[in-house]
Amino acid sequence: MSILVTGGAGYIGSHTVVELLKEGKEVVIIDNFSNSNPQTLEKIKEITNKDFKFYEIDYLNKEKLKKVFEENKIDAVINFAGYKAVGESVKEPIKYYINNISGALVLLETMKEFGVKKFVFSSSATVYGNPEKVPLTEDSKVGGTTNPYGTTKFFIERILEDIYKSYNTWDICILRYFNPVGAHESGLIGEEPKGVPNNLMPYIVRVASGILNELSIFGNDYDTKDGTGVRDYIHVVDLAKGHIKALEKLDKEQKGLFIYNLGTGTGYSVLEMVKAFEKSTGKKVKYKIAPRRAGDIAICYADPRKAKQELGWEAKKTLEDMCRDSWNFINKKC
Ligand code: UFG
Repeated sequence: MSILVTGGAGYIGSHTVVELLKEGKEVVIIDNFSNSNPQTLEKIKEITNKDFKFYEIDYLNKEKLKKVFEENKIDAVINFAGYKAVGESVKEPIKYYINNISGALVLLETMKEFGVKKFVFSSSATVYGNPEKVPLTEDSKVGGTTNPYGTTKFFIERILEDIYKSYNTWDICILRYFNPVGAHESGLIGEEPKGVPNNLMPYIVRVASGILNELSIFGNDYDTKDGTGVRDYIHVVDLAKGHIKALEKLDKEQKGLFIYNLGTGTGYSVLEMVKAFEKSTGKKVKYKIAPRRAGDIAICYADPRKAKQELGWEAKKTLEDMCRDSWNFINKKC
């Protein structure tokens, strides 16, 4: 049984490939390295001592994608190939809609042509927009997305619902990630944002290591425990394991479309994250309070009970693990 992983050299993709190989699955990766590094593939081999097939292609290239399906017996696809920078998506919406939506459609069309009907989609809590209430359950209102990146995730979810309704023979699992952080405990793979990071944890580690001068905390006047934004941070290895459970579910089912939140169920504020990082690494994080960032919401965290009940999955790693592993990764790299 081969699993095709698109974007398998990326942050969440690479951690998922490690877990798949550990489970003894055959893996075929495609990646065009638009936001990832070829060395990651070697690191995956170093961690797992296992091999996989790799194609350097863009999933928008139908002819090359078809070749991958011709040359391999693909049983299921996990799609991580997508752009994910919120700010960039506002500046370049067409680029985001083409890559994320057209790419997913080319992939789904190719799957259909080759009779592959198991699909795991990397979605995001961003589909919930500004939550009416927390914790967010899977049946909370979706669609109030505030940027093109989020809208691509929402649209692809809708496309998948239509595919399921019309063909009725597919097994589809949509995983809505909350805020992935951390890195593999080996320190060999982790998040490598290009340029100055937008997300909190990559920014914190770069301030602690002296690469960046200080963290700007975007607003301390939200209606939250200490006024700073609250999010559900989840260790990327826990997240990766969620994909293994999703595949197991699709293997067991005859047909179905399933949606799961992958989060811990606990929200931490920006200030709590800074303090937790300082405590677990012994490093100081210089910060200042800055104005709110446009488009940010005050509070967002998951109700992860459905994934626990139906997939037997729950996040195991602690906030300390998340901070330590993020720090370990950047130190190994420097
Ligand atoms: N923050 C700062 N300073 C920074 C960066 C972030 O104070 O330099 C704050 C933000 O204001 C927010 C929190 O830290 O309160 C988390 O911000 P991130 O940018 O790390 O994450 P977001 O929750 O904004 O975005 C994440 C993903 C998106 C996804 C979104 C909603 O990065 O891909 O969750 O699911 F769309």
